[in-house]
Amino acid sequence: MTESQIPKTMGQQFGRRSWAEPWKIKMVEPIEMISAEERQRALEEAGYNTFLLRSEDVYIDLLTDSGTSAMSDRQWAGLMLGDEAYAGSRNFYHLEEAVQTYYGYRYLVPTHQGRGAEHLISQAVIKAGDVVPGNMYFTTTRLHQELAGGRFVDVIIPEAHDPTNLHPFKGNIDLDKLQALIEQEGASKIAYVCLAGTVNMAGGQPVSMANVKALRQLCDRYGIRIYLDATRMVENAFFIQEREEGYANSPIAEILKEFCSYTDGAWMSAKKDHLVNIGGWLAVNDSDLYDNLRNLVVIYEGLHTYGGMAGRDMEALAIGIREAVQDDHIRSRIGQVRYLGDLLTSWQVPIVQPIGGHAIFLDAKRFYPHIPQDQFPSQTLAAQLYLDSGVRGMERGVVSAGRDPQTGDHRYPALELTRLTIPRRVYTQAHMDVVAESVKAVYDSRQQTHGLKMVYEPQYLRFFQARFTHL
Ligand SMILES: Cc1ncc(COP(=O)(O)O)c(C=O)c1O
Repeated sequence: MTESQIPKTMGQQFGRRSWAEPWKIKMVEPIEMISAEERQRALEEAGYNTFLLRSEDVYIDLLTDSGTSAMSDRQWAGLMLGDEAYAGSRNFYHLEEAVQTYYGYRYLVPTHQGRGAEHLISQAVIKAGDVVPGNMYFTTTRLHQELAGGRFVDVIIPEAHDPTNLHPFKGNIDLDKLQALIEQEGASKIAYVCLAGTVNMAGGQPVSMANVKALRQLCDRYGIRIYLDATRMVENAFFIQEREEGYANSPIAEILKEFCSYTDGAWMSAKKDHLVNIGGWLAVNDSDLYDNLRNLVVIYEGLHTYGGMAGRDMEALAIGIREAVQDDHIRSRIGQVRYLGDLLTSWQVPIVQPIGGHAIFLDAKRFYPHIPQDQFPSQTLAAQLYLDSGVRGMERGVVSAGRDPQTGDHRYPALELTRLTIPRRVYTQAHMDVVAESVKAVYDSRQQTHGLKMVYEPQYLRFFQARFTHL
């Protein structure tokens, strides 16, 4: 091979033409890597929990894609158009119009972020003793369902629990399992089906259009409602466009709206797909339910035309919704996640496959087969990565799964993962290279690594604030 034939650019290395982000950078925020000794001290002070680190001690922050996006110049300009009226702000109507246009639901209730919306929908539609089937749990969602007296039952397809299974739609609901549950409990005990787009805890895995259509038919037979966690539904639409027959030429916006049309409503953590740093909403088609939600929002969030958000935040969000559904945006967003995942895959680092929408999920069980689950392998891996390079990821395993409210025992999920979540429009390919090399270095030294012991455990959502010590 001559010098000019050696693949050099990213595209050449992967046997294709290179792509680039559909934006250029106008403002930068300096970041710095502190020394290895300082990182060791910072991690000890944080009780080996990456949520308890100060962000200034972090070099590349892949803790979450939530509220960490870079806003566009249009969104920043939108902030200046904030109508900070207590009631009836014009920005609310812009937001309402954007949700109606792109998601298709009739009534909108804004909330300060996703869990605010989860709280309202759970209080409004779950009765004590109800069952809430869904495609894998999410931490805050399930807790709000439990606090409202419900019991979450996982009805995702079994392939989702296997990090090596290559099913293209691992977020799908197992319709037979759901039907058996409905028959066993009785339809009146099912509060609703909780359907999430690109299932976070499964590795950002999508739901197919065929699955949601079949789910609609099944639920109609029993008179059961479907509410969608639309937090990463734009990413889900990308996978449908790419993988599902008949959608290759449909724009993302069209796919998104069709998908939502099979559901009765949705809640949203706008801090993800919608490219804003704060915000959320709940949207439904039923006017009685809307009346109830509109009444509840004034107790917990704020008046129904701001729901805890400033007018300027609603304006940035309305603009973000339009930017989020642009095909070139979502292709480059998921392309960047894939770039990191492809590098790790080529080095045989165990990650959840297929690569999902918002993050790379390292498979800590295969990374550290010598660390038992009750010594927190994913937590350990997040800590080791930080020590190696100042890269911050997060635990998505036994700590996140919490305790069974009935038995009080740890829940031991099949997936024990460390999530490297890519903020939208924030980092470059060079940052991804640094992250990949760090993961490889930690993988290469895996045999010398020991697990952790939990020394402090808060009652709710323990992964946020638990503290550990090394073994
Ligand atoms: C799938 C999913 N649903 C709901 C939420 C909760 O949203 P928020 O963090 O805005 O309260 C999140 C946030 O991480 C999420 O990933």
